Amino acid sequence: MSTVADNIAVRPLSPAIGAEIIGVDLSQPIDEATKQKMLDIWHDNLVILLRDQNLDEDSHVRFADAFGEPAKVSSGRSFSKKHPSVMLISNIRENGEAIGALPDGEMHFHTDQCHQPRPAKATILYAMEIPREGGDTLFANAYLAYETLPDEIKAKIEGRRALNAYEKDTTVRANNYENGAASWHPIVRTHPATGRKALYVNRLMTREIEGLPKDESERILDFLFDHQEQAKFVYGHKWRPGDVLMWDNRCSLHARTDFSAGERRLLRRVTILGEVPA
Ligand code: SIN
Repeated sequence: MSTVADNIAVRPLSPAIGAEIIGVDLSQPIDEATKQKMLDIWHDNLVILLRDQNLDEDSHVRFADAFGEPAKVSSGRSFSKKHPSVMLISNIRENGEAIGALPDGEMHFHTDQCHQPRPAKATILYAMEIPREGGDTLFANAYLAYETLPDEIKAKIEGRRALNAYEKDTTVRANNYENGAASWHPIVRTHPATGRKALYVNRLMTREIEGLPKDESERILDFLFDHQEQAKFVYGHKWRPGDVLMWDNRCSLHARTDFSAGERRLLRRVTILGEVPA
């Protein structure tokens, strides 16, 4: 008898990053063989997409739990009576207050929770309401970004750390970040499962390179941000309700395109706790 794992099909989403997995229903628990196959596809492609899913909170958290420990929402705000790991991302407002985090407009490239000592290894985002135009999520391949750096830049950043700091509720780079959480992490990190090196800085949160004069640190960071965001490393996802995306924050970064404040956007997010970057 053929199993779910035997029947999985894979469709690349772009030359640089991302694959659609066809043949898995996440409203049901996944068996070990299916999980292993999905993990392999995820490690090879960094971002996986499953379309036409019907995911309630319980099945969303159960799916995350299969891959690691769901991380509690760190902002202090609660989005679910039952699951402290559930976050809503939405611009829908009730009594003037957005029902979700990160409500409006464009977001600069970043990796989730890189301002924490143990950033998220994975993020699982489920789309419920999507604007007709914009609000796409863009993904960049951080392995390719590292591998294609000029040798002199690789030599400059080798073994160095950078400060990642997040000013709460900001979606584009803020000049003042003194009030937010901050963590130092290696600029080049090695993925614990694949052994590959990835460039681990981002425009939204990375502030300075340890041990370099301020102007040199800024010059190199600006170069790294422009380098890693090149179109040839990026896949832009146009959401449909029912889409589930799971991305690997250890080797990819993501951003969001602008969208109209007059259109509703509602997604549910669960992240999985990662290891200390090394
Ligand atoms: C996120 O960075 O987790 C949100 C991405 C999005 O709203 O598309």
